Amino acid sequence: MKICVLPGDGIGPEIMAEAVRVLNALGLGFEMEEALLGGCAVDATGTPYPEATQKLAQAADAVLLGAVGGPQWDALPREQRPERGLLGIRKQLGLFANLRPAILYPELANASTLKPEVVAGLDILIVRELTGDIYFGQPRGIEVRDVDGKSQRFGFNTMHYTESEVRRIGRVAFEAARKRNRKVCSVDKMNVLETTQLWRDVMNELAPEYPDVELTHMLVDNAAMQLVKAPKQFDVMVTGNMFGDILSDEASMLTGSIGMLPSASLDANNKGLYEPSHGSAPDIAGKGVANPLATILSAAMMLRYTFNLEEAAQRVEGAVKKVLAQGFRTGDIYEPGTKKVGTKEMGDAVLAAL
Ligand code: NAD
Ligand code: IPM
Ligand code: MN
Repeated sequence: MKICVLPGDGIGPEIMAEAVRVLNALGLGFEMEEALLGGCAVDATGTPYPEATQKLAQAADAVLLGAVGGPQWDALPREQRPERGLLGIRKQLGLFANLRPAILYPELANASTLKPEVVAGLDILIVRELTGDIYFGQPRGIEVRDVDGKSQRFGFNTMHYTESEVRRIGRVAFEAARKRNRKVCSVDKMNVLETTQLWRDVMNELAPEYPDVELTHMLVDNAAMQLVKAPKQFDVMVTGNMFGDILSDEASMLTGSIGMLPSASLDANNKGLYEPSHGSAPDIAGKGVANPLATILSAAMMLRYTFNLEEAAQRVEGAVKKVLAQGFRTGDIYEPGTKKVGTKEMGDAVLAAL
């Protein structure tokens, strides 16, 4: 059981340290090796996804990632940006299925900015396509062109999906729904974008193979609104790379904080990269206050999906539940009457609860 550990930038190393402690405490004999991805890799090697990291990631059974990026790398050419490293590893490993479960722990009902009755009992799964869409479409760029009678800078990206890309992520969503409440809501913008008309058509073609699952469709702008208005109407939401990026950050706030939302990015054989849905949080990096629970819960997803260790996954998730019930809170989920702790103390609490 080989795990490639990529702490990354900003709060990445801080939250990763806690997840690694939790994995070690399970005593399951994981082999963990660290490598560079993101800004730290650019600084050390000039590239965000160096060869050594590629080798390690390809040889490992799973990859655990903190977060990448930060303002100090924002002025770099696009190929050298930390985010390119992340997109590169997702694409290279064929991690097309991104699962982002937004679950509200009852103890955090008041941490959400929404009314407790709106979010109480929330349990939705966002299935985001991760290796296609406008994120990877060619051509792309910024060029000087003659447009509207003048020579000016012109920025362009290309949104596209093949039917096979849509079908394989659709299947992931239908299969996931079968293990849950048997409802899939496919989110698109078919009233404007051809790519997403194809998306809707392919979802409809798949539906007869899953007669036990109810398929509905929703336009993305309405979906964004419905997520805030009545999020419990959803079970599984499936959508493209770009819409999924945005909707999953939105859904994270239903759970109290983006610091609570884990994710799994899987290939066709359940090899996976596991990372919190949030970023490197430059505003709080180095302060020891970041919430490590999304990363710890991502490690739990790794136990479940890549290593088939359901019991160990539940043990970690149970420990997270317990520390929340005990009142431990990092700043992002703090409310009066609970115990405010830093990143490491939260890790300590999870270890004790294990
Ligand atoms: P962000 O998610 O890093 O931060 C948004 C806000 O949420 C900040 O106020 C931050 O302090 C807070 N936050 C995030 N994670 C937290 C945690 N664990 N505990 C407490 N608070 C937390 O988003 P951003 O500021 O838009 O992006 C910062 C950098 O991260 C950018 O360079 C971006 O490209 C990168 N990014 C990386 C990933 C990734 O590696 N998967 C994801 C998103 C953004
Ligand atoms: C995420 C992040 C990434 C994305 C960025 C950092 C490339 O926002 O994992 O949600 O857009 O996929
Ligand atoms: Mn994002």
